[in-house]
Amino acid sequence: MTLSVTDRIEGSPSQSCDVELAKGPWEFDAMPGYGPGASSSDANPLPVVRPGQLPAAYQRMSDEELHARIRSAKATLGDKLVILGHFYQRDEVVQYADFVGDSFQLANAALTRPEAESIVFCGVHFMAETADILAGTEQRVILPNLAAGCSMADMADEDAVETAWEELVELYGTEPDAEGRMPLMPVTYMNSSAALKAFCGRHGGIVCTSSNAATVLEWAFERAQRVLFFPDQHLGRNTASAMGIPLEQIPMINVHKPGLGQTEETLRDAKVLLWHGFCSVHKRFTVEQIEQARAQYEGCKVIVHPECPKPVVDAADAAGSTDAIRTFVEASEPGDVIAIGTEINLVNRLAAQYPDRTIFCLDPVVCPCSTMYRIHPGYLAWVLDGLVDGEVRNQISVDEDVARDAKVALERMLAAKPR
Ligand code: 13P
Ligand code: SF4
Repeated sequence: MTLSVTDRIEGSPSQSCDVELAKGPWEFDAMPGYGPGASSSDANPLPVVRPGQLPAAYQRMSDEELHARIRSAKATLGDKLVILGHFYQRDEVVQYADFVGDSFQLANAALTRPEAESIVFCGVHFMAETADILAGTEQRVILPNLAAGCSMADMADEDAVETAWEELVELYGTEPDAEGRMPLMPVTYMNSSAALKAFCGRHGGIVCTSSNAATVLEWAFERAQRVLFFPDQHLGRNTASAMGIPLEQIPMINVHKPGLGQTEETLRDAKVLLWHGFCSVHKRFTVEQIEQARAQYEGCKVIVHPECPKPVVDAADAAGSTDAIRTFVEASEPGDVIAIGTEINLVNRLAAQYPDRTIFCLDPVVCPCSTMYRIHPGYLAWVLDGLVDGEVRNQISVDEDVARDAKVALERMLAAKPR
């Protein structure tokens, strides 16, 4: 039997990236940083992510009682409830999800259940915001633990992006070229706040996910000479480089440095300007890990997420979104050996689903996304019990004006079809 990630961490905390992970999330929710785990060194820019709150009674409940409460609440609420679970969510929670998928699939999944009054999103904050923007006006979105943010999403805040934008507009101006292309377009990764999606909506820009980033960049270059891409530098660099753009034309800017940390000549020549964000989980993967996997298993295939650094993506056999990784494994043959560079919960689940293949995580240390990991069954039981009692807990509600502009950028993405 394959052990769940939580069982592995609790069974041998010393083999995880932080022994603190073995504690309940309520023990580290109130800590000033993101808490133990992969994102522990990232600053928590409160109040973007609010500390979680779980009544003491739920903290003390046994696993059996929490699971009994979840099952009972689900049965009582029936079709009025839909639970969405991201691929990176822990198994103890994902087992209750009506839909399991990537951030984009889950945002759309909510649309297929208009009868559901409550959408409980077992993922992170930006995913719940996106679901709220796309959901019907009668539907409400709930994030079981409000401290479940995304450290990468929080690396680009609206003020900083506005500042960089203004500096760049001063340099490039606003006049379109002879082909009608504007000087600069903002493109935000789905892993960003609703405010930044709205910023893109207002400035002719668009949202992308890791599954459609190349299509979105092509769409952008039909309408603009350059792109400001945020927050993930790696997805931006990997996608632009795969489109044939030389690295010199994909500089990274830093809003805290004079001149955005680049010469005027570099900025003028740029095609894609990268923000300095990154994912703490995916930056752990290295070329050495790939070499080791290949040395250990001849013929081993390596697939990584495009949030990994470019040398890792270049060294792998393939790179793709969470759903592309799932599809890659699905298309493999019994006996195949597949090393995966993405979050451990998804890798572990794929290994359990395909026991006739050897599937393992490139990183030998057990290191889940520590923010996603904060959705513990205790929080799920608490929000579901609330719904049964007619009380909505931890609702994510995007401001109407922000939602309107953000929806424009999301709808552009939906309309941008690959050529
Ligand atoms: P997906 O958009 O593939 O779900 O990925 C989200 C994410 O946070 C990856 O780290
Ligand atoms: Fe954010 Fe990285 Fe976690 Fe994805 S894995 S939710 S990018 S911190």
